[in-house]
Amino acid sequence: MHNITLIKGDGIGPEISDAVLKIIKSAGVDINWDIQTAGADVIEQEGVPLPQRVLDSVKKNKVALKSPVTTPIGKGFRSVNVQLRKELDLYANLRPCYNLPNVKTRYEDVDIVVVRENTEDLYAGIERQVDDNTMESIKRITRPASERIAKFAFDYAFKNNRKFVTVVTKANICKLSDGLFLESARNVAKNYNIPLKEILVDNCCMQLVQNPNQFDVLLLPNLYGDIVSDLCAGLIGGLGVAQGANIGNDYAVFEPVHGSAPDIAGQNKANPTAMLMSAIEMLNYIGEENAGKRIKSALFKTLESNIKTEDLGGNTSCTAFTDEIISRL
Ligand code: NAI
Repeated sequence: MHNITLIKGDGIGPEISDAVLKIIKSAGVDINWDIQTAGADVIEQEGVPLPQRVLDSVKKNKVALKSPVTTPIGKGFRSVNVQLRKELDLYANLRPCYNLPNVKTRYEDVDIVVVRENTEDLYAGIERQVDDNTMESIKRITRPASERIAKFAFDYAFKNNRKFVTVVTKANICKLSDGLFLESARNVAKNYNIPLKEILVDNCCMQLVQNPNQFDVLLLPNLYGDIVSDLCAGLIGGLGVAQGANIGNDYAVFEPVHGSAPDIAGQNKANPTAMLMSAIEMLNYIGEENAGKRIKSALFKTLESNIKTEDLGGNTSCTAFTDEIISRL
């Protein structure tokens, strides 16, 4: 029996969480889910969007599965997602990105792994109002955080037989901050027998949309990592299929790349694939590789049978898609 925290999120969060829990249960994995709520809905009763009980639960269980939580745009509380990553020191955001069967995309054989630094950069939330017409945000980059994410990327590349790592910065303009990130990657690379390539983020975006197959592992600071992750999701069929994990030395939180998709929330249209792929990685992480393999195979067979949600050009609802996967387990 595994004890795992589930952060249910909001928007499409509850729909895709229910789908994934049902599939995992049908695969016979024994999990005692500690279900936690966070975000705007809990502020009224508890005063904060990320109550201590959520952090305590992840600290106790060490592993969590999380669906998206809405962050107010341009005002309101600080992102629950960013806070969670920071509080639990989940410094590595790992986002493998590859084509799924029968999901039509512009390119075939995309196989990119995005490694995004998760704790600093502009996400440190250090902003101030200088006067009514002037705002400032601090882009904070430190050597220890840059070196440990570079080490994570190279260790991942080594363990997974990847050929090279490309560090992505704007060090021609942000000479100090991105310059330090780049220098840290260069220093760490010296300890590995894996080549380090370097690219500026603007060129990287252009190269990704023209020829994604030229990339292997991408190593990026927080903001570029966020943006490039969504770009990479677009290369493999969109946010509905893009998986992710936040990993630190002590805890791991698995969650899809996408947000709470308020435009389709409550309509039974959400694609649970991204959350399911994230959950499969979670199963691998807790030693349930066989169940992970069976679920992945059932998901792939479902897609191969041309059963797809709307975002992938199909017309199957979230719940019906879920049942189709279960019937192929
Ligand atoms: P989003 O990722 O929620 O949605 C972007 C587009 O992709 C929308 O058209 C949506 O319908 C579609 N989409 C996303 N996931 C889908 C799925 N599983 N199935 C089918 N279609 C899907 O991005 P958006 O709209 O910019 O952000 C909405 C909210 O989510 C914001 O408050 C944002 O801060 C939050 N957010 C939360 C994240 C998290 O909890 N980790 C990550 C990213 C955004």
